[in-house]
Amino acid sequence: MRHFVTLFEISQQELHTILSLSQQMKQLLAAGRRPPWLARRVLAMLFEKPSLRTRVSFEAGILQLGGAAMFLGQEVGWQSRESTSDFIRVLAEYADVVVCRAKKHTSVEDLAGYDCVPIINGLTDLAHPCQALADIMTMQEIAGPLAGRTMTFVGDGNNVARSLALAAAMVGMRFRVLGPRDYFMDETWIKKIRSSYPHADIQQSTEAKIALSEADFVYTDVWTSMGQEQEAAERRSIFSQFQLNGHLMRHAPPKARVMHCLPAHRGEEITDEVIDSPQSAIVAQAGNRMHAQKGLLVWMGLQHDWLNAECLEQEGIELPLGFS
Ligand code: CP
Ligand code: NVA
Repeated sequence: MRHFVTLFEISQQELHTILSLSQQMKQLLAAGRRPPWLARRVLAMLFEKPSLRTRVSFEAGILQLGGAAMFLGQEVGWQSRESTSDFIRVLAEYADVVVCRAKKHTSVEDLAGYDCVPIINGLTDLAHPCQALADIMTMQEIAGPLAGRTMTFVGDGNNVARSLALAAAMVGMRFRVLGPRDYFMDETWIKKIRSSYPHADIQQSTEAKIALSEADFVYTDVWTSMGQEQEAAERRSIFSQFQLNGHLMRHAPPKARVMHCLPAHRGEEITDEVIDSPQSAIVAQAGNRMHAQKGLLVWMGLQHDWLNAECLEQEGIELPLGFS
């Protein structure tokens, strides 16, 4: 059974297949076609934290594919009302696939460990792989092939940064982090990336000039992630010199594009001037969450024999050579 808990679970070829499917399905939708490839498939959405984009883009995506989503919040009692083993094995009787947003990454790993229903990570404290899928898709739309391009992540070496660093290594991008040293991305994660992708080009710096001078994409995220609210005041002070504003952007090439996973804390990690500038790709980025996840769901459908390549071919969708 295939799960999508981090991008480590898929190969570079599989990432290429998912992104190709996503892009072609986006074009199909623009042409007014919504083929019901996942008709009557049920997506359960188990969320421990708030969400706009992840929740709504998955719901809209599965609906467009002919399936249905059910949102499961606190009241279902995950991790409080019964054992995880009973919980997930029962949920697997009803749902074909589960998207889970959890406080702790290990909670999502635990669910996947039962191997009774495919699990997709909809954000944890460690990783946000669905975000990275959509972001790579957006960067490809803007810049074409990404090998040799540079993405600079400004701020906290958090869940979003980790998934982007791994995605960047998978597509041959350079990845730079600019932020306070104590909040750099953890070395354990970087070592793990390098053990799968020995040529991964990842560098972290506290110097704007060094980190931004070659950036094709300048990416930022909140300084205080969900669950860290008690550290907000301290973080505002520690990160203040890394606000993505007009001054900081002067260190980047003029054509560099600005990205943010959203929600943004405007006036903290990014100014209105930068997030609303013509360089900003934030809306396309958020829009692509749905397209990328539709690609992921269809790819999962292919892996689990819910549909086959002929269904896609009938709508003119081509799978990459050596599809996997
Ligand atoms: N970027 C993102 O995951 O947004 P939500 O928290 O609104 O889902
Ligand atoms: N780093 C942020 C991302 C939100 C989409 C958080 O975890 O809250």
